[in-house]
Order: sequence, then structure tokens, then C-alpha cells
Amino acid sequence: MANDLFNSFMTGPDENGRFGEFGGRFVSETLMPLILDLQAEYDRAKDDPTFWAEMDDLWTHYVGRPSPLYFAERLTEELGGAKVYMKRDELNHTGAHKINNVLGQIILARRMGKKRIIAETGAGQHGVATATVCAKFGLKCVVYMGAHDVERQAPNVFRMRLLGAEIVPVTSGRGTLKDAMNDALRDWVTNVRDTFYCIGTVAGPHPYPAMVRDFQSIIGKEVRTQMEAAEGRLPDTLIAAIGGGSNAMGLFYPFLDDTDVNIIGVEAGGKGVNAKMEHCASLTGGRPGVLHGNRTYLLQDDDGQILEGFSISAGLDYPGIGPEHAWLHDIGRAKYVSITDTEALAAFQKCCELEGIIPALEPSHALAHVMKIAPELPKDHIICMNMCGRGDKDIFTVARALGFEMGEFA
Ligand SMILES: Cc1ncc(COP(=O)(O)O)c(C=O)c1O
Repeated sequence: MANDLFNSFMTGPDENGRFGEFGGRFVSETLMPLILDLQAEYDRAKDDPTFWAEMDDLWTHYVGRPSPLYFAERLTEELGGAKVYMKRDELNHTGAHKINNVLGQIILARRMGKKRIIAETGAGQHGVATATVCAKFGLKCVVYMGAHDVERQAPNVFRMRLLGAEIVPVTSGRGTLKDAMNDALRDWVTNVRDTFYCIGTVAGPHPYPAMVRDFQSIIGKEVRTQMEAAEGRLPDTLIAAIGGGSNAMGLFYPFLDDTDVNIIGVEAGGKGVNAKMEHCASLTGGRPGVLHGNRTYLLQDDDGQILEGFSISAGLDYPGIGPEHAWLHDIGRAKYVSITDTEALAAFQKCCELEGIIPALEPSHALAHVMKIAPELPKDHIICMNMCGRGDKDIFTVARALGFEMGEFA
């Protein structure tokens, strides 16, 4: 059960949703009652064994948890250093970690009597997971997606349609995840009575960052048990890719008290962390500000205007980062690095060739960092990276990046 995690000293947040100076609840007065209702429902659910029994049942029989912990033998051999393990969350139903959290939020929505679910999505994986669970429970589903992402993640758009969701392409801004989240928040204040906003990452106003983290913590919790079984001890280093930061928080959170375990978050370095901001590395290249209801590190100009950022990976293309990561960064408990598009593409190809696993572009960033550091580490050093999504959605993007013409893949 996941709820025995909540009693640790670890992270908070405090009663106002603050992780140190980050997080909080910067929302309009109209949104406040909705946020407080959600928090009250979540507080009740957290201590209710029937809530976790329902989650466990669905995680097991609908999602396929626990996901395997896999020793990447050929990759380890090729790198010649640390032992590399992959947490196989790409094998979940719908192909990514997103469904871990969606199930929790939809069960809460049902408890609150909400019949209409809205969501934002970037790569489309959160949208697909939300559309899937809504179909399962007969709920109306509306997904806000940046127009640019609708184009580059076409397979996921069609999947959502098949699952009965309504897709709203968002053309404001640059038509990416940030803009989709703005429009979803606008929808929520307009449709207060029947609508539940299912956020896909550890961002947004309190209680979302903590709640999404709690639902995703099943990842790290399973890794603890599985690594003990495989190696008789905990891993030395954990590595995960960061868009908003939910798969990473899910892996990291159950290890925060284990200070011998190194924790590394990998941001999208795009074309390189440069002054033109052609990247999405909010911690490496941004500074604190307020977006989507919380205070965190953001890509912004001198006037505080949010910059769009850039990454080959739609799921990492967010100009902010969850507030708990901002805090872990500032207190030094976790380290954050960035990986460029080119490095991620090379890791993507290596993973296909050596392990027979086609990864999503998001975890390819984590893998690229593994490939950077593993050769220098001793052979008894254990790395666990989160393979948080499969690559089916990305094959056309990768084909283009590798110079193939559509229809000429042979
Ligand atoms: C497969 C995959 N990994 C990672 C992410 C990034 O999200 P987060 O940082 O919340 O895990 C996404 C987002 O769409 C995704 O689809």
C-alpha cells in the first residue's frame, strides 16, 4: 500500500502547500473553493483504506503493476562501469507512468460526484491515460492540447479520439503544454459545478504537487522492494527525466530519507542551455517565479514573461518544474543536469539496438545521462533509471530527426 509513505519526515509540504519558498496556492478567488474541496477530499481519501484498496486493485488488474525492474545487461557491458537497471513503467497500460496518477485523481473525482473530467497534455500520454480511465468509468473527458503538440503527437491524438475524448487544440502562446494548462484552468473556473481538473504532473496549485507525487510514489516504492530482492540492497543512484517532474518525484520520493542514495533529475537541454533559451531546463537555466498556481523555477525574461523553451520531446517541453524539485535542488538533496536533443537521440538508438526496448524520447534523456556517468563508476555501483514511457508515439519525430523521409523507412 502506498499510504504508509506519508508519515516520513521527508518533504512536506506545509499546510499552505509550501516546500520551503516554493509551491503554494497562487489562484484566483473563484478557484479557491474548488481547490479546498479537492484538498479535503484527498485528505479524507489518504487515510481511508478503501481508497487505497481500490487503487491497489486497479493498479494490479488494470495497469499491470508492479512493473518489472530490469537489469540492462548488454547496455551495462557496453558502458563498462556501473550496473544499469531500468524500472519498466513503459509497460503499464497506455504506455507510460501517467496512468498511476490518473487513476488516483479519477477515483477522487468519482467520490466527489464529478461527471466531467478535463486535462492538459503535452506528449499526449497524460491525455491518453485520462481518456482511458474516463472511458472505463463512463465519464466525459475534455483534453486541452497545444496545437503544435497535436501535430507532433498525432498517434496519441487519434488514440484519445478512439477513447471518446474531446480534444481542444490550443493556439494561444506557442501552442504547447503551458498554454494548454492555462486553458484548462480557465475551463475549470467556468465549469465549477460538475468538472474535475486532472493535472498530469507535480505542478499546479496545492494540493496537486503533493497529491500527484503521492500517486506516482508507487514507482519508487516498488523499486525499493525489487532492488532488495535483486541485489540485497538499495541502489546507489536514481535517475529520471523531468518535464513537470512527476515520474521523477515518483521514483525519488520513497528514497529521500536514504541520504546515501544519489538522486539525479534530467532536464531537457534542447539545443543546449544557452542565452536564446532553446531548452526546457528550468532549474539549470531559469529562476524563481509564479506560474500555474505555484512558485517554482521558470524560464522567463527580464520582465518575468514566461519563455516557451524548446525540446525534441513534447513531454519535457514545459517552462517550469514541480515546486518540490525546486526545493530539493536548493537544499542540495537532489542534483539536476540537462541533456541535449542530440544526446537523447543517441541514447534512444542505443536502447533499441542493445536492449530491444524502444523508449520514449522523455526517458531517453535519463538514459543519456546514465550513458554519460556509468563508464566512470565502479562495477559494483548500481544505477536505477526510470523507463517512464515507450517510444511508439515518437517514432515519426525520431525518423525525421534521423533524416528519413516519411514512408521510406527501410
Ligand atoms: C513518457 C513521458 N515521460 C515523461 C514525461 C514528463 O512528465 P513528468 O516530468 O511529469 O514525468 C511525459 C509527459 O508527457 C511523458 O509522456
